[in-house]
Amino acid sequence: MDQIGKNKKACVVGGTGFVASELVKQLLLKGYAVNTTARNPDDRKKISHLVELQKLGELNIFGADLTEEDKFDAPIAGCQLVFHVATPVNFASEDPENDMIKPATQGVLNVLRACARAKAVKRVILTSSAAAVSVNALEGTGLVMDENNWTDVDFLSTAKPPTWGYPVSKALAEKAAWKFAEENHIDLITVVPTTIGGASLTPEIPGSLGLTMSLITGNDFLINALKGMQLLSGSISLTHVKDVCRAHIFLAEKESASGRYICCARNTSVPELAKFLNKRYPQYKIPTHCRFDDFPPKAKLVISSEKLIKEGFSYQFGLEQIYDETVECFKCKGALKI
Ligand SMILES: NC(=O)c1ccc[n+]([C@@H]2O[C@H](COP(=O)([O-])OP(=O)(O)OC[C@H]3O[C@@H](n4cnc5c(N)ncnc54)[C@H](OP(=O)(O)O)[C@@H]3O)[C@@H](O)[C@H]2O)c1
Repeated sequence: MDQIGKNKKACVVGGTGFVASELVKQLLLKGYAVNTTARNPDDRKKISHLVELQKLGELNIFGADLTEEDKFDAPIAGCQLVFHVATPVNFASEDPENDMIKPATQGVLNVLRACARAKAVKRVILTSSAAAVSVNALEGTGLVMDENNWTDVDFLSTAKPPTWGYPVSKALAEKAAWKFAEENHIDLITVVPTTIGGASLTPEIPGSLGLTMSLITGNDFLINALKGMQLLSGSISLTHVKDVCRAHIFLAEKESASGRYICCARNTSVPELAKFLNKRYPQYKIPTHCRFDDFPPKAKLVISSEKLIKEGFSYQFGLEQIYDETVECFKCKGALKI
């Protein structure tokens, strides 16, 4: 990749989201002018945190839906870097094919086609997910998953376990991105984060944080979903949103970077996490013992972030900070009383 140069400009596709809004903030603080997209830029509440970020620097908000073919030319024009963060997320969907799988792939291709047409784009950074890496029917323990691993789409599409559509959408969208990038000579990097915690700039609490915080909020439905997540994806692996966004920018700017990069600060399991949280936050009466008697105490696998670390990246936030900041965020937004 050529040097980005002085007049740094980046496009963030899907700026309203949990990860994307933190990414927009970090880019502005680093002196980038930023174009971002929102499905409905006239929804003042949904973009209120982006309007707040406009105080930090040049931030332009464009309207674009992933399924609309030509909407990305305008926000991408003049940008050296394009971060494609948006993805349709609907875990309760009864039609994952149309709600997540098709629009995710269609969105990736629409964005990449616009990048191929644009003159200035030097590198595209796609936010994938560990859900595109570690979901498989492998038995055993002590497995290590790295960038060579792909989620088993055939297994998921046949067995259809709860929430199967999301990992399938992420794996197929990332594979489509690699194919298009190779055929059209686009410098593509994919960032593959595990479950993300930390404070959110969004006006509403992101759905994914509800899952991460379920042991603290005591929401039984979400605790069961968290257990389901360990059984399906093999571990509970967590990373701070600020580190995820730092990794995006680090890889965008690092000339030698290429391929996929897993971003994972900590691998654990639900019972281990419950013990950790119980000790750190005794006020929340987090269930530990009998609750997990019939449940695998250890994760089946670890998700390795060695490639990113070897590239020169270092994580700034451990499990303690991830939860301290998420707890504070829940308190600020009125979702936790104490
Ligand atoms: N959160 C996690 O734990 C986690 C873990 C690993 C990977 N990731 C990945 O990180 C990325 C961001 O996730 P997030 O947690 O920040 O999600 P999020 O808060 O739910 O944000 C999703 C974003 O995607 C946009 N979007 C959804 N469907 C769209 C469509 N049809 N057209 C245009 N925009 C659309 C949403 O826009 P609207 O505001 O218009 O709805 C929103 O900005 C995703 O690629 C996700 O797979 C997240």
